[in-house]
Amino acid sequence: MISDRRKAPPQAAVRAVERLRDALARIHRRLVPGHLALLEMVAAGWLTQAIHAAAALDVAGALADGPRDGTELARAVGADEDALHRLLRLLIGHGIFTRRPDGRYALTPLAQALRSDAPVSLRDAVLFFGSATHRDHWTHLVDSVRAGGPAAGSGHGKAFFDRMRTDRELGEMFDRAMASIDSLGQDPVLAAYDFTRYRTIVDIGGGRGALLAEILRRAPDCTGVLFDLPEVVADAGPRLRAAGVADRCVVIEGSFFETVPDGGDVYLLKHIVHDWPAEQARQILRTIRATMPPTARLLLIELVLPGHHRPHPGNYIDLEMLVNTGGRERTETEYRALLAESGFALLTCTPTLSPENILEAVPVP
Ligand SMILES: C[S@@+](CC[C@H](N)C(=O)[O-])C[C@H]1O[C@@H](n2cnc3c(N)ncnc32)[C@H](O)[C@@H]1O
Repeated sequence: MISDRRKAPPQAAVRAVERLRDALARIHRRLVPGHLALLEMVAAGWLTQAIHAAAALDVAGALADGPRDGTELARAVGADEDALHRLLRLLIGHGIFTRRPDGRYALTPLAQALRSDAPVSLRDAVLFFGSATHRDHWTHLVDSVRAGGPAAGSGHGKAFFDRMRTDRELGEMFDRAMASIDSLGQDPVLAAYDFTRYRTIVDIGGGRGALLAEILRRAPDCTGVLFDLPEVVADAGPRLRAAGVADRCVVIEGSFFETVPDGGDVYLLKHIVHDWPAEQARQILRTIRATMPPTARLLLIELVLPGHHRPHPGNYIDLEMLVNTGGRERTETEYRALLAESGFALLTCTPTLSPENILEAVPVP
């Protein structure tokens, strides 16, 4: 295991640095001819594939014990030495890996995040987002924009999750990718919200329980209920046991279109509502509304779209939903309306250090 997470900077400082970065990018775009600025953006897709290749070869894992020369590294990852050098040359230019004066390759902080055992590892997310299936969905973006929803290869909401369920190799890659992305937002969400005030926390569509396990670990008096599709929760045991919370967590399988567990003090939905178009999102929320105790709370953790036009991760994920599931990212106003249509009143929308926001709502009597 590598070194511990660094202390989180204040939220205001992070936002100020983001604004500065965006301003510098705008200045750069104005200074260079438009076609050059555009070409740089087009090449971003190639960079994604290069990062994917490094992750698939596990170059970062092979450098975990220290720098290696090209011959040794190529042998360790099973690659052609010259081709590996060309791959790393591109990545080094972006701060992913470095080459020392003695010619040996080494890790950088960005490359550390490609290690499977990093405290916050992106390797599984990179493997999914660079996979042939994912690329295939995105090649249909133009058709999705024409049609207003998922096109060939992906299929509408239920079809997407059905495919993840029946093609278990793909489904497992997806589940691991979600857990990997989940680890990114975990600390900021847990720092922004006090879960210790609840007795029973129900995580709806909680995947393999990564977030719930961490919440329970930090809130020793709470019990948890993990709810997701049967094929997904079947793999939750090891994570819950590793976190030492298995004895305080019940695992229940089912579909949130039919039923959800009752008796919770809070119902947590992280990256669930954004997966679905309004009609299905309302259906999920109404199922919860019909089952939850009247005093319970609802928490949505989502990338709430901001009012500005600067780059925002939510705009990428919004298109990811368009091509894959037919879902969408929403503004706070849109969430407020969706919740009201489903029998809830939005109380607060709390920003976190990450792009995640925590929307807290109560059932309307
Ligand atoms: C985008 S993932 C989010 C997972 C997790 N909450 C997280 O943030 O990492 C969506 C989750 O919804 C689950 N899901 C999809 N359809 C479902 C259904 N009908 N009933 C219950 N869970 C479902 C998927 O299995 C998946 O774990």
